[in-house]
Amino acid sequence: MKSSPTPLPDLENREDINRLVHDFYGRVRADDLLGPVFDDIAGVDWDTHIPKIADFWETALFRTGNYKGNPLRPHLLLSLQTTMDREKFQRWLELFFETVDSHFQGENAGHIKRIAADMAEVMQARIASFGG
Ligand code: HEM
Repeated sequence: MKSSPTPLPDLENREDINRLVHDFYGRVRADDLLGPVFDDIAGVDWDTHIPKIADFWETALFRTGNYKGNPLRPHLLLSLQTTMDREKFQRWLELFFETVDSHFQGENAGHIKRIAADMAEVMQARIASFGG
């Protein structure tokens, strides 16, 4: 008899978020469209960026409050250096959804994808109103 596939766990804690964020930025850096934006244009310091983003998601999902920052700001600045268009945001979301779905499923997995999609919309609207 064929057994049904083991269901994936939901995102439950910081450790899960760390796993997600590490895997996601690995995919971003390997991507032809987004990799150069992070590594060449923004010159991201990954040792600083990864824990900050993990704080951001931990605060968004579990209300820990350890992210203090302005998530819009770096993207507005980036739009002065490169095009921050729909194609890039769509690729970002595609990679993010793919990463979430390859590790997790459940309420929090659904929630984090909705937050990411909403943030991407808000960022694009703000960038457009900023003139980018
Ligand atoms: C085309 C899509 C995107 C690109 C190219 C991009 C790129 C970047 C870059 C270069 C930084 C600055 C990193 C650093 O030097 O520390 C950054 C920061 C950040 N990004 Fe994005 N990003 C994108 C979409 C998003 C989306 C959709 C979200 C929301 C879920 C997001 C969340 C954040 C947050 C929370 C920060 C840290 C802000 C802070 O400094 O407090 N990004 N992003």
